[in-house]
Amino acid sequence: MIPIIIAIDGYSSTGKSTLAKSLAKVLGYTYIDTGAMYRAVSLHALREGYLEGEDIDVGSLISDLKSIEISFVLGQESNSVVCLNGQQVESEIRGMEVSNCVSRVSAISEVRCFLVAQQQAMGVKKALVMDGRDIGSVVFPEAELKLFMTASEEIRAQRRYDELLAKGDEVDFEAVKSNIIERDYRDTHREVAPLIQTKDALVLDNSSLTPKEQLDWVLEKVRQITSI
Ligand code: DC
Repeated sequence: MIPIIIAIDGYSSTGKSTLAKSLAKVLGYTYIDTGAMYRAVSLHALREGYLEGEDIDVGSLISDLKSIEISFVLGQESNSVVCLNGQQVESEIRGMEVSNCVSRVSAISEVRCFLVAQQQAMGVKKALVMDGRDIGSVVFPEAELKLFMTASEEIRAQRRYDELLAKGDEVDFEAVKSNIIERDYRDTHREVAPLIQTKDALVLDNSSLTPKEQLDWVLEKVRQITSI
């Protein structure tokens, strides 16, 4: 089977990473969660004090980008875990503090250039499943398979809420839902690389699909592409 790049974009909490992880496992591909990379930069900005309330010290963050090293290591159950300067930060980057500022950090064009270059380098050998907001439009416009994932706001908020509860976080459902709505708005309205559905992307609305149904649907598309 010829190796391909699978680009998965879509709204927050649509299950992109769940699908991407299973796809990568079945196909023996590398999986890269680009949202985790934006979250790691946001965590760095928070730790260094570049974020105060709604304000970001953009200049300091930009000039400090070169000191940020993002990598992935295999964690429990062979899941890839993001590291910030060699330290695993998976749990910190998923909390509400980072969720509340990541859309603003990811709207900074220098931050995007810094991360997009690293993401493109990861695709040189193909055999890659990458998820995010601009993978099919900016990072890999030539990807052989592009998916655009969506689901109703209520369902997405419930999924995210359950995830945070399972992690032991004390969260309020309405706060989780407004965070999702706000991130959708910022992600689709920002000037640089906004979330868009490219013309060649296949839409996957998974509001009422099980993970297995989604995986089977995509694997069929992969088979069609790779057997040409
Ligand atoms: O996929 P996620 O919810 O973990 O992503 C976190 C934020 O990062 C999201 O609000 C938008 C941003 N992001 C982005 O701008 N571009 C990407 N390729 C991935 C994520």
